[in-house]
Amino acid sequence: MAQSQQSIDTIKAGYTFSSPSIQLGVLMADGNPVPGVPINLSYSMLNRHGLVAGATGTGKTKTLQLMAEQISKAGIPVFAADIKGDLSGIAIPGELSEKLQARVQGIGQNWVAAGCPTEFYSLGGMGTGVPLRATVSSFGPLLLSKVLGLNETQESSLGLVFQWADANQLLLLDLKDLRQVLMYLTSDEGKATLKGIGGLSSATVGVILREISAMEGQGADVFFGEPEFDTADFLRTTGDGQGIISMLELPNVVDRPQLFSTFLMWLLADLYHALPEVGDVDKPKLVFFFDEAHLLFNGASKAFLEQITQTVRLIRSKGVGVFFVTQMPTDVPDSVLAQLGSRVQHALRAHTPNDAKALKQTVNTYPTSEYDLAQLLQNLGIGEAVVTVMNPSGAPTPVAWTRMLAPTSLMGPMNPEWLSSGVAQSAMNAKYGQAIDRESAYEILSARVAEAPAPPVGTAPAAPARAPKAEKPAPSVIEELSKNVLVRQVARSAASQLTRSIFGTLLKRR
Ligand SMILES: Nc1ncnc2c1ncn2[C@@H]1O[C@H](COP(=O)(O)OP(=O)(O)OP(=O)(O)O)[C@@H](O)[C@H]1O
Ligand SMILES: [Mg+2]
Repeated sequence: MAQSQQSIDTIKAGYTFSSPSIQLGVLMADGNPVPGVPINLSYSMLNRHGLVAGATGTGKTKTLQLMAEQISKAGIPVFAADIKGDLSGIAIPGELSEKLQARVQGIGQNWVAAGCPTEFYSLGGMGTGVPLRATVSSFGPLLLSKVLGLNETQESSLGLVFQWADANQLLLLDLKDLRQVLMYLTSDEGKATLKGIGGLSSATVGVILREISAMEGQGADVFFGEPEFDTADFLRTTGDGQGIISMLELPNVVDRPQLFSTFLMWLLADLYHALPEVGDVDKPKLVFFFDEAHLLFNGASKAFLEQITQTVRLIRSKGVGVFFVTQMPTDVPDSVLAQLGSRVQHALRAHTPNDAKALKQTVNTYPTSEYDLAQLLQNLGIGEAVVTVMNPSGAPTPVAWTRMLAPTSLMGPMNPEWLSSGVAQSAMNAKYGQAIDRESAYEILSARVAEAPAPPVGTAPAAPARAPKAEKPAPSVIEELSKNVLVRQVARSAASQLTRSIFGTLLKRR
């Protein structure tokens, strides 16, 4: 049945906004693009979050790319993760092939090649990019448990260890610091303390220690340490007012998906602390693309899922928009899915009964429309999607079969040599490039101690867990740990209280 002019007009009106917007693509009617009907997404609705989904090769990454380009142009900083290494081309102008020319002509896109201001990062220097690091303390027990693959019992045990370390003002910089605490607790001297903490068995501590060793064995420990990344560095614009795209290059971490996905969560939690409440905004402060989002939700504990849901809900009013990119909408738990205002659904396959079920579920989450969605979703062309977003009043727009715009930056990886030399020259590299080794951490921390007002004479660190009566008092835990100079310095320089907030990450004083 041919689509009526009336329904085309309804869709056109539904995507005509009085406030500025990015353009996702143009309407498709009866299989042909209608250049006169742009499918838009208002800047003011970017922090209502969104989902980009679709089977492999259907155009998800290009959608991310074309959205990021326009968001950057609008002066809004962007964060994205480049998991397959095919997104670094965003920094340089694209090339107009014959095929691309036909596409942009068909949709009436005024295509001008352009790259975006981009800063490349890596996880702790694994791969090409300014190394991002976080301290173990700041990461917190919940995220660390996910990284280490701990079960719920082990997770709660690690939580107790952090609680104890916090109470004793022990700031743990890297995995070696954590290891030291755990080894203490399983040592003869630490036994009484372990007992005092309660609910923590030395067998569980042993398991956690083994997992830490395994991680160190894979070289992923380089991510934990200092200098810790300040997420405010994601909120930068260029002199001429373009939002800087922070691109996390991840080709080497495919085998550590837990590290990458929990790190992104840490970033979000940290941003949440860092940013002031802004409520509804004309333009968000940052748009955060969460590619391969299924990695985040796979095997997540209940506590972890609750924290994701809460973070996503709360970060909106801080002016941060989050877009999850994944193959199936069913990869995303309902509690999160319900909060995603924009939907760009690329083609779905229904080869297996499971696929068919997921397709049906997906169809059910859309507002009613004239389309036979189950049919349409299986037959969408590459770079086409079924779209619905929130209009500036917060109501869902009509469902629209859309042919997406083409990115104007290079589709695919950038020349690796350009990438490395760009990273080497960047100011962020000067700030974060060098890991601070134990020596220099010691010096910096000592300096901080010198600056801080001197504690009143005789102030002792919080008393460790009481040793059982009638026994010779256990040596002070702090004393034991103080054998390591670093831990001692860290302990003294730590904030007078260590406060944990959303996701159990450390609340920093800024
Ligand atoms: N909007 C678009 N404009 C032009 N070409 C596109 C567009 N979207 C997709 N394509 C073409 O389709 C190819 C696959 O797209 P893309 O890499 O975005 O798929 P994907 O869904 O991310 O796949 P995967 O799941 O494997 O990562 C691109 O290399 C490009 O040639
Ligand atoms: Mg992709």
